[in-house]
Amino acid sequence: MSLPKTLTWLLAGAALSLTASAAMAQQTNLRVFVSSQHRPDVWRKAFDMYEAKNPNVKVTIETGGNTSEAQAQYLNTVMTAKDTSLDVMILDVIRPAQYAAAGWTVPFNDVLGNNAEAAMKQYLPAYAEANTVDGKVVALPAFADAMFLYYRKDLLEKHGVKPPTTWDELTAAAKKVMDAEKDPNLQGLSFQGKAIEGAVCTFLLPYWSMGKNLVSNGKLSFDKDAAVKSFKLWKDFVDQGVAKKNIAEVATDDTRKEFQAGNVLFAVNWSYAWGQFQGGESAVKDKVGVVKLPAVAGGQPASCLGGWEWGVSAYSNNKTEAQKFVQYLSSPETSEFMAINAALLPAFADKYTDPDVTKAVPWFAEAKPVVETAKARPVTPRYNEVSEIIRTSVNAVLAGTTTPEQAADQMEGRLRRVLR
Ligand code: GLC
Repeated sequence: MSLPKTLTWLLAGAALSLTASAAMAQQTNLRVFVSSQHRPDVWRKAFDMYEAKNPNVKVTIETGGNTSEAQAQYLNTVMTAKDTSLDVMILDVIRPAQYAAAGWTVPFNDVLGNNAEAAMKQYLPAYAEANTVDGKVVALPAFADAMFLYYRKDLLEKHGVKPPTTWDELTAAAKKVMDAEKDPNLQGLSFQGKAIEGAVCTFLLPYWSMGKNLVSNGKLSFDKDAAVKSFKLWKDFVDQGVAKKNIAEVATDDTRKEFQAGNVLFAVNWSYAWGQFQGGESAVKDKVGVVKLPAVAGGQPASCLGGWEWGVSAYSNNKTEAQKFVQYLSSPETSEFMAINAALLPAFADKYTDPDVTKAVPWFAEAKPVVETAKARPVTPRYNEVSEIIRTSVNAVLAGTTTPEQAADQMEGRLRRVLR
């Protein structure tokens, strides 16, 4: 072997390892928190596509908490500890403002430049609003959400019953089907009675349907009569045997699982449930219908605005890469991918009627007006306390430890102290 050739090899080897270490040095590892019930398996695929286009970025998923408050509790601990290991986190729509106020997220205005306002205009107005605080874009939409009524199409057809448009019709329909089916495992209606964030919406659905608001201009506008009626509506479902006795223990994903196992006729739930109902492990595949939620008699139907947003941690060591990644996650392309593969509602208006989306999730075309008219939970810096008061009251009524009247009284007093 001639010397020059050996030298060339040596030099080439050195150059290669230099390039390799340069590439290593540029490699960014992003750690992303995703809520466990919102299809981390499908988000993983979206992350893989990003990695394929950005070989210098590696994304690791962290999941946890099966409810919104369990996740918030975990993230609060991470943020309070100023932990640098988490770069990106998915946040319930009720939280971006609160996280920004705590200084836990960094605004996107630098990466969005002068176009921040135009960038936010692409999204449904409710999400542009929820993610903008004092002119700063504090998070970007992951997906939209609202509550719907899921029903067993096969059972309603079998018994000649139409999907209900009022809660009274729902009771009558449930009784008719349950009496005829004589299946002791079949629940007429499943909804969220556990003291979780979702129970705030449980309370508000009939309350709003009666045309009442809880907070107006930051002040409590409590209608006691409507509150009593709302508590009573849910408790009556239990007392009449339409909902199961221990509904006070039921969280969102319990409703989803029980419906998916074929044990529920009507279910109040969010959009993610559909993808699971149509999945391989479902007993109700192709037997499910979705409509807007019933109204109280004489009222208007109302839904609760949900949704999840991507925030970048103020303690991340990779803020710029993390923000670029979030821009990809909140793009129309990723939204379409998640709508088709996980039935997560798009934050972009035109995706609801996109032919590929409606082919995968036919009811999304009708879901748009529901999302657009869904009502937001009260906006107040003391939302955590408001939420706690409402969800524990709903839970106590359903558990039978307090009456609708007592609950409404106590709730009013407690809310008044918080929202003075
Ligand atoms: C859904 C909604 C979210 C809501 C939660 C309550 O995930 O998207 O906004 O707070 O349910 O359980």
